[in-house]
Amino acid sequence: MKIAVFSSKKYDVDSFNKLEHNHTIHYFETTLSESTVALAAKHDAICAFVNDHLNDDVLQRLNELNIKAVFLRCAGFNNADITAAEKYGIAIYRVPAYSPEAVAEHAMALVLCLSRKIHKAYNRIRDNNFSLERLTGFTLNGKIIGVVGTGNIGKCFCRIALGFGCRVIAYDVREDEELVKMGVEYHSLDKVLEHSHIISLHVPLFPETHHMIRKESIKKMRDGVMIINTSRGALIKTRDVIKALKSGKIGYLGIDVYEQEENLFFEDLSEKIIQDDLVSRLMTFPNVLITSHQAFLTSEALQEIAEVTLQNVEDHLNGVSTKNRII
Ligand code: NAI
Repeated sequence: MKIAVFSSKKYDVDSFNKLEHNHTIHYFETTLSESTVALAAKHDAICAFVNDHLNDDVLQRLNELNIKAVFLRCAGFNNADITAAEKYGIAIYRVPAYSPEAVAEHAMALVLCLSRKIHKAYNRIRDNNFSLERLTGFTLNGKIIGVVGTGNIGKCFCRIALGFGCRVIAYDVREDEELVKMGVEYHSLDKVLEHSHIISLHVPLFPETHHMIRKESIKKMRDGVMIINTSRGALIKTRDVIKALKSGKIGYLGIDVYEQEENLFFEDLSEKIIQDDLVSRLMTFPNVLITSHQAFLTSEALQEIAEVTLQNVEDHLNGVSTKNRII
């Protein structure tokens, strides 16, 4: 099969190159959009990532180019118009769970960095400032951690939080029995928002979860709450979060994803003027930590992504039914 890989970075090329296969793979650094979809010509399939555009126009163009399969290198598929894919008869595959531990560990890294002010200490020490003033943190043991979404990643995060001696409360549309046995308590979303010292988001981005963290939901939270988002940026309404950070209602924010990240993340913009005033405002807060969608980025996870993607290609070619096929 001839496959055009979009949004590819050196680490993607390296992980695919470690595997044996009979396919011809062309790597394009550019993201997939209306203006770049022509690069897919003369390929049999494309391989895309989180910020590639798989809207109706792009899928229509892929259909015209006779491309009938899209292999996502990610779990979330909110960037793909599933109805349009069905209309054009294009199959979409994903990698549903590649090292969920990697993402959950990153979420906890954000919690620990913020709760112990590691980001401030790192900079201070480099400036020969060994003072401890204003570095007082808080102990995690005994705190209430609210986990929103207890699927693959949320479940790992629950286990990690339990290991720290936290009380873990959770909200999901379906309860995980194993977690209940481990001591996780399921409650309504409102209860989880109301009681948690720390809230970690692990639900996918769907119309019903879009902006689930906004003015009305923030009002229900404890004063000084910590919010962690490693799922998808649009779970949070950034403007409302900025207001709550200014008032002190939100005490800490750790995000690996951002609503408008496609214009920023994965690129070196160090010589550019950032045009996004919301992210620029977020970057000014001492209690906000931003990473650029790197929670998945471990060598173990990258290898798994490459392996499962190539297995999805094989399954597609051989007509094997797989749960990794979304449509
Ligand atoms: P999953 O599908 O295993 O779990 C999602 C959970 O959310 C399920 O338990 C489901 O029942 C629950 N859920 C769905 N809709 C809900 C709703 N309306 N209300 C409450 N619960 C709801 O997904 P997984 O693997 O845990 O991934 C979660 C998200 O993490 C992905 O959708 C993706 O957006 C994000 N992600 C981020 C990465 C990063 O590098 N930052 C890497 C991988 C995934």
